[in-house]
Amino acid sequence: MSVAGLGVRLGGLPVLRQVDIEVPVGQMVALLGANGSGKTTLIRAVLGLTPHQSGRIELFGRPQAEFKGWAAVGYVPQRATISLHSTTLGEVVRCGALARRRRDGARPAGRPKELAAAALAKVGLADQAKELFLHLSGGQQQRALLARALAQEPDLLVLDEPLAGVDLFHQEAIATHLDQFRRQGGSILVVLHETEALAGSIDRAVVLSEGRVAQDGPLPPDPPSHRHEHEPSTRPAGLVTGMEPRWIS
Ligand SMILES: Nc1ncnc2c1ncn2[C@@H]1O[C@H](COP(=O)(O)OP(=O)(O)OP(=O)(O)O)[C@@H](O)[C@H]1O
Ligand SMILES: [Mg+2]
Repeated sequence: MSVAGLGVRLGGLPVLRQVDIEVPVGQMVALLGANGSGKTTLIRAVLGLTPHQSGRIELFGRPQAEFKGWAAVGYVPQRATISLHSTTLGEVVRCGALARRRRDGARPAGRPKELAAAALAKVGLADQAKELFLHLSGGQQQRALLARALAQEPDLLVLDEPLAGVDLFHQEAIATHLDQFRRQGGSILVVLHETEALAGSIDRAVVLSEGRVAQDGPLPPDPPSHRHEHEPSTRPAGLVTGMEPRWIS
C-alpha cells in the first residue's frame, strides 16, 4: 500500500498536505502524531471512506479507483461506531470470516464459525462468544473488532488505535498475533499513541504533524506519546496462555 503527495481538505480546510507513506508487504508501519494531526483522515482516505483532492493511493499495486480486492483489507475503526444492540460477539466476528476473500479472488480454507472462534481466542474472548457485543466493556469491544478483522484473513490490516483501552495483558497477546501476521507476509498500518506493546514489531514509524509527514524512519527512541519507554516492564513472559494474572484489573 502506498500514498504519494496526498492532499485532503475537510470543511474547506487542509487536513493532509503532500503526505507520502508506504507500507511494504510483510511490514508493520506505525502512524504516530498528536490529536488532530490527521492520522484517522489518512487511514480513511486510504480506505476510500474520505475523498482526497490530490495525490495517488495504491493498494496492492493498483490505483485505489481501480482496486476491487477490499476483502483483503481488514479495518479496525478508531471507535466502535456500530450499534449492535442485539448482536452477539460471535456473530460480529463471523461477519469478518464471511467477508474473507483473498485479493486473488480465492477463498482461504476453513469454515466461518471455526475462523471466528480462532480469532476470538487470539484476542482472549473465546469464552464470551455468546455475549451481546453491547454488554462488553470498551476494551473488550475493541478486541472484538480486531478479532473480526483477523477472521477476515486479510493481506493488509489497517488499524486505528487498536489497543486503546485494552489492558496490558491483552495488549501483549494481541501484539504476539500481529507480529505473527506480519511474519507470515501480512502488512499492517497501525495508528498508535502508545508504541510500547508493539515496539518490537514496528518496522517503520511515520509521524504526522499538522497534516504533514514530520518524520519517517525507525521508531523514534522517545516519541511524544511514548511515555513509559524507560520504565521497567512488570509484565511476565509468555502471556498468550489465556490465563489472566490476578494483578490485572
Ligand atoms: N468531517 C470533518 N470536517 C472538518 N474537519 C474535520 C473532519 N474530520 C476531521 N476533521 C479535522 O481534521 C483534523 C484531523 O483529524 P483526525 O481525526 O484525522 O486526527 P487524528 O490524528 O486521528 O487525531 P486523534 O489522535 O485525536 O484520533 C482535525 O483538526 C479535525 O478537526
Ligand atoms: Mg484518530
